[in-house]
Amino acid sequence: MINEICYDELKNMFNREIGDINLPEIKLENGYLGSRLECEVMAKLCKLQKPKKIFEIGTFEGGTTLIMAMNSPEAEIYTLDLPWINQPDRKEEIGNSNQFYIDNRKKIVFEDTHYAKRITRLFGDSSDFPIRGHAHSIDFVFVDGCHTEHYIKNDTDKAFEMVSSGGIIVWHDYDPTEHSCWDCVFNHLNEISSLGIHHITGTAIAFYRKDK
Ligand SMILES: C[S@@+](CC[C@H](N)C(=O)[O-])C[C@H]1O[C@@H](n2cnc3c(N)ncnc32)[C@H](O)[C@@H]1O
Repeated sequence: MINEICYDELKNMFNREIGDINLPEIKLENGYLGSRLECEVMAKLCKLQKPKKIFEIGTFEGGTTLIMAMNSPEAEIYTLDLPWINQPDRKEEIGNSNQFYIDNRKKIVFEDTHYAKRITRLFGDSSDFPIRGHAHSIDFVFVDGCHTEHYIKNDTDKAFEMVSSGGIIVWHDYDPTEHSCWDCVFNHLNEISSLGIHHITGTAIAFYRKDK
């Protein structure tokens, strides 16, 4: 069973005060986190975790990358997405749900900000991207890439390989209330829930914290 945790309980779990969070002024539209609460939760998880290294799977336009950068002042951030070129041969594999993002990418929202110097954009497919250089070294892994069964499993396995001791893995689209094309995130995290996965009530955010 996935453990339900309220937003207010987070600081007890991490045994740390959160302090002020920072959110971008930009309008968070399609593709970004689903609600203001989710943006706040991402920001708070960063404040609590104080990561030095972040790895995100699924940049899209960089909305969550920017939130993580604004709330993790010491972090170097790696964010992976498919190359920004049309890849008609990949359509079937990537699935219709992701085609929306591929067709709607317009602008990277952090590129003209001072956070950009701490952010490295990586291009490739998460199923064959070499992550060996990041093994056991990432304090905050964010999984929000392709939402098919194969990719959720692949990206989750990679996240477990990358996470450092004391680090956290955060997934978006674990949604117990809405069963949709994101069902594979829900199903996969339920399958591995005995590892100690927490769902933050009222959001589609789940996380795992590795022991030190
Ligand atoms: C839900 S969007 C990410 C949204 C972003 N994290 C945010 O909230 O601002 C999913 C992203 O994953 C990317 N993606 C899909 N399949 C991928 C793959 N196999 N490898 C890497 N990235 C992938 C898509 O191109 C898309 O930009």
